[in-house]
Amino acid sequence: MQKLAIRGAKRLSGEIPLQGAKNSALALLAGCALCSGEVRLKNCPALSDVFAACRILNKLGCKCSYHDHCVSVDARDMNCCAVPEELMREMRSSIVFLGAILGRKGECELSPPGGCELGPRPIDMHLSAMEQMGVRISEEYGGMCCECPGGLHGARIDLGFPSVGATENIMLAAVLAKGETVITNAATEPEITDLGNFLVRCGARIRGQGTPTVVISGVDKLHGCEYSVMPDRIVAATFMSAAAVTGGELDIKGADPRHMRSVISVFQQMNCSVFTYDDRIFISAKKPLCAVNTIRTMPYPGFPTDAQAPVMAALAKAAGTSVMVENIFSNRYRHVDELVRMGADIKTEGKVAVIRGVKKLCGATVRALDLRGGACLVLAALGAQGESRVENLCYIDRGYENIETVLRSVGADIKRIKS
Ligand code: UD1
Repeated sequence: MQKLAIRGAKRLSGEIPLQGAKNSALALLAGCALCSGEVRLKNCPALSDVFAACRILNKLGCKCSYHDHCVSVDARDMNCCAVPEELMREMRSSIVFLGAILGRKGECELSPPGGCELGPRPIDMHLSAMEQMGVRISEEYGGMCCECPGGLHGARIDLGFPSVGATENIMLAAVLAKGETVITNAATEPEITDLGNFLVRCGARIRGQGTPTVVISGVDKLHGCEYSVMPDRIVAATFMSAAAVTGGELDIKGADPRHMRSVISVFQQMNCSVFTYDDRIFISAKKPLCAVNTIRTMPYPGFPTDAQAPVMAALAKAAGTSVMVENIFSNRYRHVDELVRMGADIKTEGKVAVIRGVKKLCGATVRALDLRGGACLVLAALGAQGESRVENLCYIDRGYENIETVLRSVGADIKRIKS
């Protein structure tokens, strides 16, 4: 089990190049299964989930290879429509292959993605949407068998909640379906816009991606293309929090500040100076941090649930009392007990966390229990007096490329311990 050893209380300073967005890359890789031509996806982060998606594509009979942040996928000979259980379990977001495989082959076999660390993650909206498009779903030996002998057809699908994964699955299933699909109350996250833009580049007919109404007119075939994955807005938020918690200054390069308004506004309320220009976000936290108004996690353009834990690390040291309300996932405060072990004063009840800023955090041995909660602990350790160990690095590695190398390059005293 690998861990990080961090000696905290060093002000971070310098420039950080931002990685491509994991969540977007995974949906785009599923989309590659729809293409009868070669796709070259650039700016794909080197992360275990991306490699798992590549393994799924290879298993489906596609030729998929990763080289230096570029994934090449040739799905012309895709000859399989089943994803083995161990691959479904390896990556929870593997469910996004459902729409892509059905769209391409009209049938699909997969097991439900494993139970999740953020609370129950049902896929009822995904399945109901596929049924509305003509798919018959039966459960066999714990797996799902999806068939659509007549081929998928377009449908009007109203989502009860703007689910990111369900919106992606419907878009993927609809691009090669017969007729028109209209999704209302669709998710508007930038990753949805990225998926829509990628599919359009491959020959799909889609309008309204990134708005609550997405209209997809089915086409006969998609071709290949070259496309660059959007920057990772959650990793950018994490580095902003690293600057804040250490009283440092970071220049994040290769970001898209337009995706980050709700996050930037929170750091400004915390007393940080934030400047954005083109693809850069500069944050300076030279003044003492102060508490913020209530933060409510919401679908985009609201404050992202994935940034809740990373931002909490900085709030733990911000003078005054801040309140967070987690509206998206029911079990997303698991990092709080570990933060408290580092001296934070945080109480949670249900969706609400009350954070009373403390003057200092103290180094401790803490354990990551999920990806963003793990990142929060790394940030708290960077801002703490003394030495910390953050265990269970495997969670953090799922979303952050070489986190210790990047942080060391801007002055952190951090090393990976492989034991
Ligand atoms: C995606 C992101 C994740 C992010 C989340 C919300 C990926 C790989 N993951 O997850 O990082 O935190 O969006 O921005 O892109 N729900 C149902 N039934 C469904 C589908 C969802 O009840 O069929 C519920 C979920 O349990 C959750 C809420 O809807 O409470 C939001 O989920 P959703 O937007 O679907 O998130 P994911 O796509 O799983």
